[in-house]
Amino acid sequence: MTLKHVLMAALATAMFAAPAQAQDNVKVGLILPLTGPFTAIGRQVENGVKLYMAQKGDTAAGKKVEIVVKDDGGNADATKRIAQELIVNEKVAIIAGFGLTPLAMAAAPIATQGKTPQIVMAAGTSAITQASPYIVRTSFTLPQSSVPIADWAAKNGIKKVMTVVTDYGPGLDAEKWFSETFTKAGGTVESVRAPLKSPDFAPYLQKAADAKPDAIFVFVPAGQSAQFMKQYRERGLDKSGIKLIGPGDVTDDEVLNDMGDVALGVVTAHLYSTAHDSPENKAYVEAFKKANNVRPNFMSVGGYDGMHLIYEALKKTGGDTDADKLIAAMKGMSWVSPRGPISIDPETRDIIQNIYIREVKSVNGELYNVEFATIANVKDPAKAAAK
Ligand code: DHB
Repeated sequence: MTLKHVLMAALATAMFAAPAQAQDNVKVGLILPLTGPFTAIGRQVENGVKLYMAQKGDTAAGKKVEIVVKDDGGNADATKRIAQELIVNEKVAIIAGFGLTPLAMAAAPIATQGKTPQIVMAAGTSAITQASPYIVRTSFTLPQSSVPIADWAAKNGIKKVMTVVTDYGPGLDAEKWFSETFTKAGGTVESVRAPLKSPDFAPYLQKAADAKPDAIFVFVPAGQSAQFMKQYRERGLDKSGIKLIGPGDVTDDEVLNDMGDVALGVVTAHLYSTAHDSPENKAYVEAFKKANNVRPNFMSVGGYDGMHLIYEALKKTGGDTDADKLIAAMKGMSWVSPRGPISIDPETRDIIQNIYIREVKSVNGELYNVEFATIANVKDPAKAAAK
């Protein structure tokens, strides 16, 4: 071979090597509501994802991880279309995010058809993981927190409860699992439901006040908690002697401190508190606040842990992005999150996590969900019951 031939061969190798190198990127499509009424959810998840990558670097198993962020505006048709575009045109290996139940559900058939892992980082209706074999969840389920708060209420002198929930998947799960658990323990329950869109809670709160229960159990999605608490105070319910309880969405850490005294004494069950006392969480809160100027809430840890799941699964497959291999790698994985110890149930692909009972208290002049009891390693009760 002449020198010319050697050079040409080298050039040909380099030319063929270029696309192979491009394939070494693993693209992750992150679909979130970043405009519209649920922007706060999207931002918390996105910032959790970004913090993880800032801390751990942007490579896993020797591959560069590239996030493609898309805004669905909280609209399920947009989520579906974007999921399709990301898989078909952008060739993402994984889709992730999903700020609300209808958005996660809209993408599920696309994940199945496109054989693409779908990491649900925010939504909480139990049935989501059953919508596709390619779904793995790092957020939570509503039954997971509604059963522990029902147990707590029954053991703490509460006998009559009015439930007020948002009328869609997670609210219906919360109502069902609270009511069943609480009535089994001897309590009585009455229920009202508020619409998801443009909610005015006043009529439901009036009904609740008129019924004179020992407690009001509330589920509203993150992003509506401040409005709910404002109307709760306006009707004087915080001075009525009626206790306010629920899953922790209503005392969302991002906006809790701005709610004021109305939030003091609210008792909730949830997966994450900014005030969770662990070295992992102290470091997390400090880094998150420094980067974003707000407290991290429960949505942010879904994003942060979702990225951990993706990185560790890639490490286990040696960088192979085959969907079945990635899902197999994710099943049974366990680690310590800022929220505490968590794992992925190998049977259901749903998250197993501690649920903490917390009370809103003022600590050094700021309102926090202060944890006072832990129910360890809670599986989604809805799936446990169906077996
Ligand atoms: C869902 C959304 C929320 O904002 C929340 O706090 C809980 C659940 C959902 O749509 O699944």
